[in-house]
Amino acid sequence: MCPDSSQIKGLNRKDLLGISDLDRTEIELILNTAVSLKEILERPIKVVPYLRGKTAAFLFFEPSTRTLHSFSLAARRLSCDSVSVSASSSSVLKGETLLDTAKNLEAMKLNFVVVRHSSPGASHNLARNLRASIINAGDGCHEHPTQALLDLLTIREHFGRFNGLKIAIVGDIEHSRVARSNIYGMSKLGMDVSICGPPTLIPRDIEKMGVKVYYDLKKAIEDKDIIYVLRIQKERQSKGLFPSTREYIKLYSITEDILEKYAKEDVIIMHPGPVNRGLEISVSVADSSKSLILPQVTNGVAVRMACFYLLPGGEERENQLSM
Ligand code: CP
Repeated sequence: MCPDSSQIKGLNRKDLLGISDLDRTEIELILNTAVSLKEILERPIKVVPYLRGKTAAFLFFEPSTRTLHSFSLAARRLSCDSVSVSASSSSVLKGETLLDTAKNLEAMKLNFVVVRHSSPGASHNLARNLRASIINAGDGCHEHPTQALLDLLTIREHFGRFNGLKIAIVGDIEHSRVARSNIYGMSKLGMDVSICGPPTLIPRDIEKMGVKVYYDLKKAIEDKDIIYVLRIQKERQSKGLFPSTREYIKLYSITEDILEKYAKEDVIIMHPGPVNRGLEISVSVADSSKSLILPQVTNGVAVRMACFYLLPGGEERENQLSM
């Protein structure tokens, strides 16, 4: 059933910049709203007028398939207009800053700016300077909040709860904004979070985030309900941090053999994409019945619809929900 706008209070914040900012109630509000809105995606005509008259700008200065297109579909499903800006086709190539680009777009009367950028804090800078609601679609190695929200929705759909679930996040934790956002969200919701990877790809002091650290994959996965596999981000690594591909596969790749020998029989596998098949995960595991990789992507549209729906979009809360 679609949300009853008279019953739903929006988020009491202008922007969505990171999971570290959100409390448990806010996370649950977004997930519950996403569940209601997901029903629209099953209809023959997948569009509702909730955000008619509003406009979103997508400022993507790093490549993206899932995030950009699910935000774009989410906007369309809610009747929100959108414009897209990429580094290669905008005046950024002529030297314009991210902030100037965003301010110029806002001068064209925008409600939402969705931004992906290689600099940690890029979305915070826009949030301080623009009236529009800013949504962080990934800022460097810092946070990727909507990825964590769609992961949490997928976990709740599968298990019906968060409390007490054990997860191992495996791979390149050091360069992963997905890992950071998920560690914040999963811990706030009562999950038991472990991380595992080569010592060079585990951040120093990560234990302060409340996670257990493993360097041995077999030990890390033995009692876990979920194995969350991260992409190896060669593009973010300075020289020398990454063991050889062959060594990485031998020690950390999630294969059928490893799962059969060391994991629980009913373990589920998640991955944020894009997947390097045959590197961090085998082809057969990625395509297996244990894999929730494609349901994660489906939930990305619903979660991003919920974010547009719940944020004020540069207007007073009452205006947003009086439809
Ligand atoms: N998971 C994720 O952020 O994928 P994209 O880089 O394709 O957006």
